[in-house]
Amino acid sequence: MFHTIIQFGDHRYPFMTGVGVLAEAGNYVQELHIHQYMIITDEHTPDHIVKETEAAFGRLAPVRVLTFQPGEEWKNLSTVHELCKQVIDLGADRRTAIVALGGGVSGNVAGMVAGLLFRGLPLIHVPTTLMSASDSVLSLKQAVNLTQGKNLVGMFYTPKLICVELPFLQSLAERDLRSGMCELVKNLLAICPERINEYRRKLRPNNQYELDELQQFIAFCIEAKTKVMADDPYEKKDGLVLEYGHTIGHALELTCKGKYTHGECISFGMLCAAYISQRLGLLTAEETAMHHELLERIGYQVELEPEWLPIIEQYVQNDNKRGYRERRPGCTGMVLLNGLGTIHREDDAWITMVDNSLISEAIRSVQERRAIMHGSRT
Ligand SMILES: NC(=O)c1ccc[n+]([C@@H]2O[C@H](COP(=O)([O-])OP(=O)(O)OC[C@H]3O[C@@H](n4cnc5c(N)ncnc54)[C@H](O)[C@@H]3O)[C@@H](O)[C@H]2O)c1
Repeated sequence: MFHTIIQFGDHRYPFMTGVGVLAEAGNYVQELHIHQYMIITDEHTPDHIVKETEAAFGRLAPVRVLTFQPGEEWKNLSTVHELCKQVIDLGADRRTAIVALGGGVSGNVAGMVAGLLFRGLPLIHVPTTLMSASDSVLSLKQAVNLTQGKNLVGMFYTPKLICVELPFLQSLAERDLRSGMCELVKNLLAICPERINEYRRKLRPNNQYELDELQQFIAFCIEAKTKVMADDPYEKKDGLVLEYGHTIGHALELTCKGKYTHGECISFGMLCAAYISQRLGLLTAEETAMHHELLERIGYQVELEPEWLPIIEQYVQNDNKRGYRERRPGCTGMVLLNGLGTIHREDDAWITMVDNSLISEAIRSVQERRAIMHGSRT
């Protein structure tokens, strides 16, 4: 079992991981005097997980379960609106807590509902994917998508508690485990390169791990995120490094419509960002090669379909990091590395303006490298 207190700026909340932690949740929320819990989850969260969570919170107060359709395309304002209405119809008041149960999509949708209703209801995260347990619930960011781009509507909202019931992760498909491991690789490359040697031995292409290994991975991700968010809870300075790979990754995620997971898309984005960093003289060839090596070690394989390229390029223009820098025609702001573990700063900003033609070149080059390795044609 691993219990810790997360402290990002003035935001502080307990994080529990282990076997049987849900049974302890009540000890952490007593002072909130909650008299009703509303669990929000998507329809693909396995039944046994929903039932166990319902039973655990049901020992504290009455519980209702609300569901929505799974997948990135349902992470939108209509879903949030519909759930808000249902929560109100079920008699919610200021002493109602929202329990976000499931992956990153459920966490973001339920996080938005909690942040909006009554200008903020208590939020408890029960993440059930490796992605949500080790990454998304640690961010204070809640957001949903517009048709124009990912995470364009959102807010910062702090949970009261996070409970990772480790056995829940046992039912995850391999692709969903890999998705979480992609963010771990991002933390190694962009924040803690001194841990690479230790981890390269631990990574497995089939992503089958024991529960205690998953617990270690989650603890490492907390350590990495704390390094950059302790003094930057809104991820506007050093915390922006967590967006490494996200400009192109999010564009691919919207384009591929579920063919690849969030983590796989971010990994593709990291390979492109590394290519660009190397072209600008910020990373060495060895450092770029390390990106490929670590991702190979977790069985990463993403291949673009040729018709996706212009769509990805279009979505890149709508990335939600616009505005951190003055607009520069023909350029897009990206997070780049200046050596592993160090975000590149340009003109005292944490975002680097990159020529769109170099972004296109990077996407094509990373794709071609894969096509050559796998003997297919682009
Ligand atoms: N800062 C942030 O807020 C932040 C950070 C990282 C990712 N995200 C977001 O998270 C989302 C991706 O999250 P994800 O990878 O968890 O995907 P997801 O939420 O879509 O979950 C993947 C699938 O796994 C199912 N599932 C959940 N738990 C399961 C379990 N224990 N066993 C079997 N199946 C299970 C879900 O129902 C879903 O169908 C993206 O929308 C991304 O933008 C947000």
